[in-house]
Amino acid sequence: MGTSHGSYRAALWAGALALGAATALVGTSPAMAATVQVGGGSLDWGFKASFRAYVATGNGTPPIATKDGATRNADGTFDFPAAGGTYDATAGTATVNYGGTVVFSYPLHMFEITLANPTLVVDGDGTGSLLADVDLVANGGSTEQHLDQAEIATVVTTAPTVTDGAVSFSNLASTLTSAGAGAFAGFYAAGSALDPITASASASATDPTDPTDPTDPTDPTDPADPGNGSASQKITAAVTGGALTLTSAGSAVPLSAATPGQTATGNLNAVTVSDLRGTNSGWDLVGQVTDFTATGGATIPAANLGWTPTAAVANSGLVNAKGVTSAVAPGGPVAPGTGLGASHTLCKAETGSSLGSSTCGAALSLGIPESSTAGEYSAVLTLTLA
Ligand code: HEM
Repeated sequence: MGTSHGSYRAALWAGALALGAATALVGTSPAMAATVQVGGGSLDWGFKASFRAYVATGNGTPPIATKDGATRNADGTFDFPAAGGTYDATAGTATVNYGGTVVFSYPLHMFEITLANPTLVVDGDGTGSLLADVDLVANGGSTEQHLDQAEIATVVTTAPTVTDGAVSFSNLASTLTSAGAGAFAGFYAAGSALDPITASASASATDPTDPTDPTDPTDPTDPADPGNGSASQKITAAVTGGALTLTSAGSAVPLSAATPGQTATGNLNAVTVSDLRGTNSGWDLVGQVTDFTATGGATIPAANLGWTPTAAVANSGLVNAKGVTSAVAPGGPVAPGTGLGASHTLCKAETGSSLGSSTCGAALSLGIPESSTAGEYSAVLTLTLA
């Protein structure tokens, strides 16, 4: 990976009643070159299970063949090895070329369809497409159609799972386009559901966007790099322990892209406070963030991170004893500019109604001063429960 999205930190203060969750906020700009070249990975896709079943009962020898690097998975779907392309794990975008060929032949029904070199395009906004080369030869050659990297399917995409800088997408729904329908001689209507797509991509060993590589063409410290300064942000939090505990639901919170003068927004991972002490003595969960700093010394002051807290009592499905009530209140909203440089309440439960668990969250907004320089900023947000 070309970038380290840095500063994941989690902290646990054992003992007493103080627990802290440390949350890293990391901003990157495109000038940080999060786009990396693909060096490995694979795409698993079956095209359409009913089509495989239909062709498999035919008289092809064999009905379904794979070549050029494609292989058949145990479940009948196909595996296409990565052949190139790029991705950006932070932005959740990818255009990855996979190689390999699958040939469906059904001599009795007089067709042979060749599906090759699928390309998965993930736009980062929940949409994407699958391109492929598709050749149809039917009726002894009197019907021929050749598609070259045509969009044969639209794809519903999700944020990638990122492991050691490699991205993977799991079970993405895919739908036949009209171009794809044509490649199957109209036997399927556009809009037909195709098999889900599972794909992965890892960076090539010689990553041309490695920020530690002095030849990195998009090195943010390179004055020749024009940059354009948007930001995406990642927040993680995970803490457990003690009789009064704080846990986090997730590990990544991408904030919206922003340029200087704009506000990057996102949501804190929901945290659950469990007061299992049995003393009903109340608790207070407060948060404070450090200044955001970037390599080279640029900063965004902590006060520019604001939040709007939310809080709700978690329903365990069990019935409380008579007279026992549980209540939680969110802290007041705090605006960027007068934000979390100082400690502010995320949520709290009063003495007499604090037993049980509550879930607290916050909409985050980081006001990015117009005077900010592009770069990778990080800060630590500490949640302290007492
Ligand atoms: C251009 C040539 C052809 C193409 C591209 C083609 C393609 C298809 C496709 C995509 C299906 C739907 C499979 C599914 O998802 O359930 C289908 C079904 C079927 N085709 Fe073809 N076909 C062709 C020619 C023929 C011919 C010549 C015959 C008959 C002699 C035929 C008989 C059938 C039958 C009976 C089904 C239904 C199979 C089932 O539901 O189990 N096809 N074909």
